[in-house]
Amino acid sequence: MTKLNQNMTPLFSVLKDVYAKREIVPFHVPGHKRGAGMDKEFFDFIGKNAFSIDVTIFKMVDGLHQPKSCIKEAQDLAADAYGVKKSFFAVNGTSGAIQAMIMAVVKSGEKILVPRNVHKSVTAAIILSGAEPIYMNPEIDDDLGIAHGVKPETVEKMLKQHSDIKAVLIINPTYYGVATDIKRIADIAHSYDIPLVVDEAHGPHLHFHEDLPISAVDAGADICAQSTHKIIGALTQMSLLHVNSDRVDQNRVQQILSLLHTTSPSYILMASLDCARRQIATEGRELLTKSISLAHKLRSEINKIPGVSSFGIEIVGREGIYAFDPTKLTITARDLGLTGFQLETLLVNEYNIQVELSDYYNVLAIITLGDSEESIGKLSDALRDISERFFGKEEIHRKSLKMPAIPEPVLIPREAFNSVKNKILFAESEGKICGELIMAYPPGIPIICPGERITSDIIEHIKELKDAELHIQGMDDHELQYINVIEEEDAVYIYTEKMKNQLFGVPMNLGANKTGIEFGLEALWDNYPDVFDEMEVIEIERQKEDFSVQNLRYKNTILDTCERVAHTVNLAVKDGYRPITIGGDHSIAIGTIAGVAKEKNIGVIWMDAHGDMNTQESTLTGNIHGMPLALLQGLGDKDLCNCFYDGPKIKSENIVLFGVRDLDEQEREIINKSGVKVVFYDEIAQRGIDVVLDEVREYLDVDNLHISFDIDVLNPEYAPGVSLPVRGGFAPDDIFHSFKYLFKNYTITSVDIVEFNPIYDKNSKTMEFVKELTEYVKNPD
Ligand SMILES: Cc1ncc(COP(=O)(O)O)c(C=O)c1O
Repeated sequence: MTKLNQNMTPLFSVLKDVYAKREIVPFHVPGHKRGAGMDKEFFDFIGKNAFSIDVTIFKMVDGLHQPKSCIKEAQDLAADAYGVKKSFFAVNGTSGAIQAMIMAVVKSGEKILVPRNVHKSVTAAIILSGAEPIYMNPEIDDDLGIAHGVKPETVEKMLKQHSDIKAVLIINPTYYGVATDIKRIADIAHSYDIPLVVDEAHGPHLHFHEDLPISAVDAGADICAQSTHKIIGALTQMSLLHVNSDRVDQNRVQQILSLLHTTSPSYILMASLDCARRQIATEGRELLTKSISLAHKLRSEINKIPGVSSFGIEIVGREGIYAFDPTKLTITARDLGLTGFQLETLLVNEYNIQVELSDYYNVLAIITLGDSEESIGKLSDALRDISERFFGKEEIHRKSLKMPAIPEPVLIPREAFNSVKNKILFAESEGKICGELIMAYPPGIPIICPGERITSDIIEHIKELKDAELHIQGMDDHELQYINVIEEEDAVYIYTEKMKNQLFGVPMNLGANKTGIEFGLEALWDNYPDVFDEMEVIEIERQKEDFSVQNLRYKNTILDTCERVAHTVNLAVKDGYRPITIGGDHSIAIGTIAGVAKEKNIGVIWMDAHGDMNTQESTLTGNIHGMPLALLQGLGDKDLCNCFYDGPKIKSENIVLFGVRDLDEQEREIINKSGVKVVFYDEIAQRGIDVVLDEVREYLDVDNLHISFDIDVLNPEYAPGVSLPVRGGFAPDDIFHSFKYLFKNYTITSVDIVEFNPIYDKNSKTMEFVKELTEYVKNPD
C-alpha cells in the first residue's frame, strides 16, 4: 500500500505548469533557449513542448545532486510506489546505478561475489572501485543455449569459502526473464551480515503484479537498480536505484551518484520517469494484466508454428529456475535451420520487426505496457511466414557449452586495466596474464578476463570454439592468431591501495625463556629508525603465574599478552591493514593469528627450523614458544587454545610447515596425527625451491595467507642472532625469493617475524636481515 498520492508528478508539473506556462525568459543554458536556437528540421520534428521544458538546474526546478523540492518529492513518490526506504533517479541508466551500488558497498581491495556473466557496467564498477571480484558460475542451460541465474547453493558455498566477502551481487531476473530463488539468496547474504545487491535491470515492473516473479526489494535485497526505461514508460537512460536496508548507507549512495552523474541531467528524461512512476503506481496492475495476457497469447500462437518455439512457465523447476516472467519471449527457429542472428536479420529486413536481441539459437522479444493485439499479431504472422519458407531445412547443430574452470586471478580488474598490454602469439600464451576479456556465445559467459592466467585448457577450448565456428567476442585479433597479454614486468600492482601496513612489536621473551629477545625491538629501533619508527609496541604486563601448572612456563603472562596482541591485530585487519608483527619469541603468533583468523579465512605458512607443535604433554622444556602451532589448531592447553575466541583458529589442512630441520620425537607424532604438511629443509635443498613452492601453492588452496616467519629457519651462518640455532638452513636470497613468490600467489594478510635475539648476533647480520625483510614486507614488489 502506498502512503503518498501517486497521482502527483511534482517534477513534471513544475516544468509544465510553472516554468513553461510562465514563459520564463531564459538567460540560462541550454543554449537553444526553448528551441529558438535549434536547427529547424530537428525542432519541427521534435516539437516545441519538449524544448519548453528542457532546462537546467535552478531553484524553481530543483537539482538532482542535492534535491530539496520537486525532484526530492518525485524520488520520495518513487520510493513510496516501490515500498522502499529511498529511491534515486539514475540518469545514466542502470549502468550508472550499478557503478554507484558497487562503489557504495565495496572499497579498494575488498571482495565482492558476482556471477561470471555480469553486465559490463559491473566490470566497470569493479575497475573504478578497485574491488576484487570473486566469481561464481551461473547455471547453463544446454538445451536453450543460455545462462540462467546463480543458485542459492552456489552463493552459500562461495561465502563459506571466502569469509571476507563484503557484498553479493546477482542479476535477477535475467534478460530472458528467468528468476532465481532470490529470497533464499537474500537470507544467505544476511546470515553473513553482508548486503545483497541486485542488478534488476529487467525487473522494474515486478513489484506491481502478483503473476510476476518477486521483486528484489520485496525479497529482501538491500539495494537494487532497475532500467525503468527498458520495461516501463521512462525515456531511454532513466533508471531507478532503490536502497531498502541499513546495511547500505544512503548518504554514501547519494555522494557516489553525485560523483558519477553529470551536473546537467536532462529534465525531460527525469520528468518522463516521474510520469512513468505515476503510471505504474496507479494503473500498473491493470496494464500488466493486459501485457501478461498478450504475452501468453503470443507464446501460445508461436508454439503452434512448425519449427518455431518459445519456452514458458513450464521451465520453472529446472536447475537455477525458480520463477519466470512471461513477458519475455525467447523465440527459437533452430528447427528451421535458422540461428537467432539469422532470424533477427530476416525479421528486420523483410518484416520491419526489430527484436531486442539475438543469440546463436534465439531471439528475444519483449512485451511491455506498449504492446497491443496488433503488434503481437505482426510478430506471429511474420514467424508463420518464415516457418512456411524454411520448414524442412536441416536443424542447426547444437554446440557443446562446456566451459573450462575459472582461471587463476593474478591481477584484480583495476590492476589489469592499468597495465600495459603486449601482443603475442596465442598458441604461445600459456602461463601469461591475459589482457583481454574473451567470451563465446552461447552461453555468453567470459572464458577468461583481463588479469587472469592463461592455461593450456583455455587455449584448447578457444581453438575448439573457433573450429566449431562459435561466436567468439573480445579478442582484438578476430583470426585468433594473436592475443594481448600483460608481461609480469608490466603488471601494475596496487598493493598500496589494497593494503596498507601496520607495524607492531611484542618484546616477549617468556615463551622462549631466554634472555636477550626482549632487547630485539629496541636494537632495531635504534639502528633503523626509518623502518621501525612507526612501530606500535604491545608491552608485556607480568601476570601472577601458577607455578604448580606443569610444563607451561609463564602461561598467564603469555595468554594475557596474546589476548591483547589478538585484539590489536584484529582491529588492524578490520580497518583494512596488513599487520606486520615483530617479536619477541614465537609464542606471540598465538595472538597474531587469532586476531587475523577471527576476520579472515586464512592459510598459514610457518617458516621455522622447528615444528612448534609440542603440547604440555610432549614438551621437553615447558617453553610455550615450542607449542603455538599446536595451540592454534586446538591441540593442548584449553585456555591458550581459546585465546581471543573459543576454538581452533586454523584448520590443519590449511597449514604448511616450511624449512623444518629439527623435530622432537613426540612432536613428530603429533604432527603426523594432525595432518599438517611438513616440508623439510633437506627436501627443498634437494628438489629446488621453485618446485617445492609450486607444490605448496597447489596444496594450500586458500586466497589469504599469514606468514609466520621464525628467523632460525635461516642458516645460522647468515643469522646467528636467534635463541635456538639449528645447523644448515636457508640463505637470505632463498627467503626473499620465497616471500616474493608468496606475495605474488596469495593475498598476504599478515606477517610475523620472530625470535630475533641481539645478544647472539654477530656483526649485526641478523639485525640487518630483519630490517631488510621488514622493508620488503612493507613494500613488496
Ligand atoms: C543485466 C543488465 N544489467 C545492466 C544493464 C544496463 O542497463 P542500462 O542500459 O539501463 O544502463 C543491462 C542492459 O541491457 C543488462 O542487461
